[in-house]
Amino acid sequence: MKIDILTLFPHMFDGFLNESIIKRAIDDNKVFINVYDIREYSKDKHKKVDDYGYGGGQGMVLMPQPIFDAVDDLKTAESKVILLTPQGKTYNQSIAYDLTLEKHLIIICGHYEGFDERIRTLADIELSIGDYVLTGGELASMVITDSVVRLLDGVINKDSHIYDSFHDNLLDYPVYTKPANFRGMEVPDVLLSGHHEKINEWRMQEQINRTKERRPDLLEKR
Ligand code: ADE
Repeated sequence: MKIDILTLFPHMFDGFLNESIIKRAIDDNKVFINVYDIREYSKDKHKKVDDYGYGGGQGMVLMPQPIFDAVDDLKTAESKVILLTPQGKTYNQSIAYDLTLEKHLIIICGHYEGFDERIRTLADIELSIGDYVLTGGELASMVITDSVVRLLDGVINKDSHIYDSFHDNLLDYPVYTKPANFRGMEVPDVLLSGHHEKINEWRMQEQINRTKERRPDLLEKR
């Protein structure tokens, strides 16, 4: 998969792309990620990318020209263009799975003050990562990239997806490591029993109990 990210703040991605699982996925050619500076596409002699909004009111608005030129440059028949905005459809694990089927994602990071409405016409889908407002789409693009890349073949052990929180609309079961007794808090006996069938039953029950308690809305979707 190829992911092209359009942003005004390319340096925000330095840490994200150079650590941990995302770095390994890039090094192993499981994903090709490019970060493009929207400013580089500006035709203005001062590389201007925003201007005052018509009608007054809210501050600077991202201009259409640099974004349209960038998308024209990067888009192919296989591209899916995602626009990040708090007005988009709320992102979730099921959308993450759908995005893994794409060959090429172009992700446009919106701007804190807003973007020209005509930019919307470029998007195949508008996504929001939740009902709160970020200063820009950069963190949202990292959230989406991270959650999609970890699902790609060969990036992490496939079995671990099956037990992900939200897979099948169930939250994850609790896990423990050594020591078996920490400050009086004991690891459940069943996990020390070596009885795999019982362990699996216990885990499934814990998933159901947790989901009932914390996210009953997910159980309704099952
Ligand atoms: N840009 C600003 N807030 C956002 C959000 N919640 N999701 C996606 N993009 C955003």
